Amino acid sequence: KHVTAIVLAAGKGNRMHSDIPKQYMDMQGYPVIYYALKAFEESKVDDIILVTGAEDVAFCTKDIVQKYHFTKVKDVVPGGAERYLSVLEGLKKAQNADYVLIHDGARPMIGTEDIEKSMQMVEQEKACVLATPVKDTIKVVTKGYVTDTPDRDTLWAMQTPQSFSTELLRNAYIQLETKQKKEKIVPNITDDAMIVEYMTGHKIRIIPGNYANIKITTPDDFYTMRALLDAQENAQIYID
Ligand code: CTP
Ligand code: MG
Repeated sequence: KHVTAIVLAAGKGNRMHSDIPKQYMDMQGYPVIYYALKAFEESKVDDIILVTGAEDVAFCTKDIVQKYHFTKVKDVVPGGAERYLSVLEGLKKAQNADYVLIHDGARPMIGTEDIEKSMQMVEQEKACVLATPVKDTIKVVTKGYVTDTPDRDTLWAMQTPQSFSTELLRNAYIQLETKQKKEKIVPNITDDAMIVEYMTGHKIRIIPGNYANIKITTPDDFYTMRALLDAQENAQIYID
């Protein structure tokens, strides 16, 4: 079975408030995106598609893919205005993939072990996502006031990779397009599992993940990443 990783790096990083997109910022001598690409390069995936901003395709090809010898990266393609549209651009290039693993380029701490787990699970379940149980109590807040407190035992924080049978994900996207044309409403789609859930009803299997697989989103995440890299040996905090 052919497995393609789609690594997303076409975001603007608004919440980081930095001059250059967070995925290209330096972390201990390497750009943030290097770490995720390295994990997939060293994993059992067959190839990698890197999705980046249209203005960064040349830079990524030369100064990241070629420079660090990421031989599994077979395409560097421009993404879209929203994350799910960037996924779609990657999906168009994943022609011969039976399965796709979609990963946030801003999640540098992904481990090869979690990639293998995703590869195994997606063959069985067709749709699976790495996730961790939330540690905080999560409340629904409306206009500054608490309106609901969902039972914490049912809440999990989604990570990536999110892995799908390519056929299932393609169908979900086709149905989403039809629905959007008809209803003219664009829901706030923050991950790919949502599209599969809503458009196909196919069950998404959760893979208990690693708390160290953080997403670099706000400036404080860089401190966490530095600490995790420094303590990499001890950073493999698995949950039961
Ligand atoms: N992403 C993408 N294309 C987009 C938006 C996001 O490829 N149109 C990617 C980002 O580069 C990132 C991942 O999706 O690797 C997760 O998104 P997020 O953390 O939200 O990154 P940004 O959208 O860049 O940040 P922000 O939401 O703060 O602007
Ligand atoms: Mg975003």
